Amino acid sequence: MSREQILSLLRQEKGKFLSGEELSRRLGFTRAAVWKAVDVLRREGYEIEARSGLGYRLTAVPDVLTAREIQSFLEPTAAVGRELRCFAQLDSTNNYAKSLVQTAALDGTAVFADSQTAGRGRMDRAFQSPRGKGIYLSVMLRAPLPPDRLPPVTALAGVAVCTAVERLCGVRPGLKWPNDPVLGGKKLSGILTEVSLEAETGRLQALVVGIGVNVLQEPDDFSPEVREMATSLLQYCGKPVSRPRLAAALLEELDRAYAALQTGDLTAYREAYRRDCVNLGKTVQLIPFGDGERETAEAVDIDDGFGLLVRSADGDLRTIRSGEVSVRGLWGYAE
Ligand code: BTN
Repeated sequence: MSREQILSLLRQEKGKFLSGEELSRRLGFTRAAVWKAVDVLRREGYEIEARSGLGYRLTAVPDVLTAREIQSFLEPTAAVGRELRCFAQLDSTNNYAKSLVQTAALDGTAVFADSQTAGRGRMDRAFQSPRGKGIYLSVMLRAPLPPDRLPPVTALAGVAVCTAVERLCGVRPGLKWPNDPVLGGKKLSGILTEVSLEAETGRLQALVVGIGVNVLQEPDDFSPEVREMATSLLQYCGKPVSRPRLAAALLEELDRAYAALQTGDLTAYREAYRRDCVNLGKTVQLIPFGDGERETAEAVDIDDGFGLLVRSADGDLRTIRSGEVSVRGLWGYAE
């Protein structure tokens, strides 16, 4: 399509002017066709300056999660993000990604939505997903991972979020066990991993890793209850962050994590997770699934399976593998 070719040439010039004549010559279009394509691109949100005698230059790209914008920042990946499906709105990107399992969609297909009407979190909570503000992404993974590599998936996804944010913003979030990236004591992102099993055999068919990152939300974009505990990159860093750029960094980091999961060498991820984990050395409250009693303990270490090693008041050591853990000083810690 002529628009794509013109945009790609303007991007290559990195903000310098390219004459209309040169564009027409290189692409074999008439000057009128170039002008028409530029006009459409402008209506799509691309800022293209036109100056007589100099030509056209690209001065700004829109903050949109389209395949075109994400791919313009994306380095080649082995699996994650090779296929992109981008939508203005979905109920939940996890639901859509799960619906791909029975289709010919590629391993690593990434699904983005600009807003979700029924974004889901862990423990059946809702994940607020306002339009144009966050990254709502699900990746469908088909590799036949052995059962012991499933618990680490979500921890590795957490490390991938932290690294992608650090690459773009220069600040590294912490990780509240098991997988909530946090900044300034508030929740920046949430991760929900779901498993699709073959009904007859119980064999793992695919994993869907769903990630929501709060990027451009102002406090008013969150409901009053969520506002107290959530933050966004805009709020924390004080300046807007490009969503397509961050989305591309996230896909690259998830691709690295997926490769590590397949080889089984998770050493670097264990080290990163231990460094990032904000629970260690702190008093935590253990909140079991269901109606069980809450208990206060000290978080001591992360074990090789990414479980949280805690010391109870009576000195007993044990490893927590499920449930919620709240940390004193972070949201949700009620004594
Ligand atoms: C949590 O905080 O408990 C997890 C939140 C996960 C939210 C993401 S947004 C993209 C994907 N689609 C969903 O419905 N949920 C995940």
